[in-house]
Amino acid sequence: MTTDYDPIAEQYQRSKQQPWRTFIECYTLLDLIGDLAGMAVLDLACGEGFYTRLIRQRGAARVMGLDLSQGMIDLARAQEARHQLGIEYVVADARNLSEKNQFDLAVAAYLLNYARTPEELQSMCNGIARSLKPGGRFVAVNCNPAMNLSTAPSYRKYGFETNVVGDFKEGTPITWKFHLSNGPFEIENYHLNVETHQKAFKEAGFREVCWYSPKISPEGLVDNSPDFWSTILEKPPITFIECVK
Ligand SMILES: C[S@@+](CC[C@H](N)C(=O)[O-])C[C@H]1O[C@@H](n2cnc3c(N)ncnc32)[C@H](O)[C@@H]1O
Repeated sequence: MTTDYDPIAEQYQRSKQQPWRTFIECYTLLDLIGDLAGMAVLDLACGEGFYTRLIRQRGAARVMGLDLSQGMIDLARAQEARHQLGIEYVVADARNLSEKNQFDLAVAAYLLNYARTPEELQSMCNGIARSLKPGGRFVAVNCNPAMNLSTAPSYRKYGFETNVVGDFKEGTPITWKFHLSNGPFEIENYHLNVETHQKAFKEAGFREVCWYSPKISPEGLVDNSPDFWSTILEKPPITFIECVK
């Protein structure tokens, strides 16, 4: 697995400002996360800390952000230095988590879709389960394995496109191209099917698993009609997952 976010860390940070991120991704994920008061939370694949900061600001008592990319963690720490929230950021691999730190909640925005094989996904899920207290929750937003992205519609009007070359099978790379005002950049994810995820969650020790569709916030309907959002909501390239240990 590469740390290839280092060269695109700042562009990725800017892509979080796209309206679909705010009104769909962020709105649905925070709603699923729910009340954070007093909780110890681990933000896996935290990137530059977009959700890590929101989690802390929404009442979590202790927050740790973890990412494989030094570039992403540097950006997160720079923001922590400018505006201290008391978040600890570490460079680490989610597959190697120990039981040393036990959290009430683990959050992962776009981590699982970096697993290229069922074995890699299993290692991630094992690591996540190890980091949680009994009864702890894992909440994720992820590339949607139930959606065949080789036949996906264009998401260009939202500021991004997905592309799949060849057969859509286990391990197939999915390219996401984000269009920003200063030009596009690309990231690559990997497809593993829903059954592979279910098996990995179960073997890691999660006893309940729920999948949720994205939804649009009321604010998202102020400047754009339901019609504008229908493509991304009806053929969602992302999904939301909640697992209980
Ligand atoms: C698409 S970014 C998401 C960042 C952040 N969660 C967000 O939503 O803004 C995916 C992140 O996953 C990280 N990542 C990929 N594989 C990882 C692993 N095995 N352990 C920890 N982080 C990983 C990458 O370095 C990258 O920062």
